[in-house]
Amino acid sequence: MKQNTLDFLCCPICKGSLSLSIRKKLGEEIQSGRLLCDSCSEEYRIVSDRPILMGNNTIHNWLSPIDEALNPNEITLPEGPFSLLRLKRLGVEEAKELASSQANQSIPDNAFSVRNDLKQLQGKIKYIKSGKWLRARDRGKKWLNSLNNPSESVKSFLSLAESRNPDSLLDIASGGGSGVASLADVLPAKAKVFSVERDLKCLWIIQEKFKHIRKQANSESIGADVRQLPIKNDSIGVVTSMMAMQELLGVSSVLEEIHRVLKPGGSYIALFNKEPWVYDMIQIDQYKRFAKAVDMYSGYPDLVATAENESLSLKGLEEFIENGKEYCLVEFGKEKK
Ligand SMILES: C[S@@+](CC[C@H](N)C(=O)[O-])C[C@H]1O[C@@H](n2cnc3c(N)ncnc32)[C@H](O)[C@@H]1O
Ligand SMILES: [Zn+2]
Repeated sequence: MKQNTLDFLCCPICKGSLSLSIRKKLGEEIQSGRLLCDSCSEEYRIVSDRPILMGNNTIHNWLSPIDEALNPNEITLPEGPFSLLRLKRLGVEEAKELASSQANQSIPDNAFSVRNDLKQLQGKIKYIKSGKWLRARDRGKKWLNSLNNPSESVKSFLSLAESRNPDSLLDIASGGGSGVASLADVLPAKAKVFSVERDLKCLWIIQEKFKHIRKQANSESIGADVRQLPIKNDSIGVVTSMMAMQELLGVSSVLEEIHRVLKPGGSYIALFNKEPWVYDMIQIDQYKRFAKAVDMYSGYPDLVATAENESLSLKGLEEFIENGKEYCLVEFGKEKK
């Protein structure tokens, strides 16, 4: 992590300022250290260059939002894509009941220990940082091929973000980082690019992609939950998300956080599937009923209504059909002061 990244960071829990203590620094990169919240005294760590701004009891693995709604205390393998088969097996009414009984239960401390998971990831982190991960199985070649040949919808997503000429961009729920690396690639080198993801192993993969396109000097992947962004108020020019909407539980909290971190006049640019994908496994209306009840993505009109509720107004919409699937590219704006 670069020291000047601290200008943008705050405590994800109470939004207080952070004090940095460095343990090891190599060139511009702080390799290990601590970030201590000046207000609530929570402590976060910088591990193998990456700041992990999440509490110990935050989920830091991949988990389907359906499974997260039904049991946030356990990492389980999905039953079919997004665990749609689990939803079908339970039936929507029972699933809604189960989710609401879970929503009131707090996750016990140490249910998910960042520290333990990071210990287990050490070998993998080394492998990724050595560049071997990207070279294996032609991963790098395939990724660069898609970076250089984006679909029409991705092309428009990238050029919309670029046209806003942000001095800082935050991509949320970045996954393996294809989207945010493409954004870093098209933006001028001086623009700060941040990426937030909770599945920890992704952080080093994303940073490796920044390095590969020579944008690591101003780009930073951060471990955090997008419903608790560790980013200061009014600090980001453009927030983006690419094909992440259906993976989020708590869409309204995410939009509230996006509104908080955007500068007045800033934009949230999102590319997503127009209708939730249900792969013929469950009726779409049934899916939407569950999704609405637990605050998951339930389609374009609901998303616009939720965004407007969070004071993000619709500025533009473009639609695409690619391989028979419908996509939306939208821009939401935060009011100017
Ligand atoms: C499919 S990826 C999006 C694709 C990505 N933009 C890309 O370019 O490859 C969605 C990601 O959202 C992450 N995610 C889901 N809920 C999250 C949360 N609450 N906080 C942070 N990340 C989250 C998942 O871990 C997953 O990696
Ligand atoms: Zn705090």
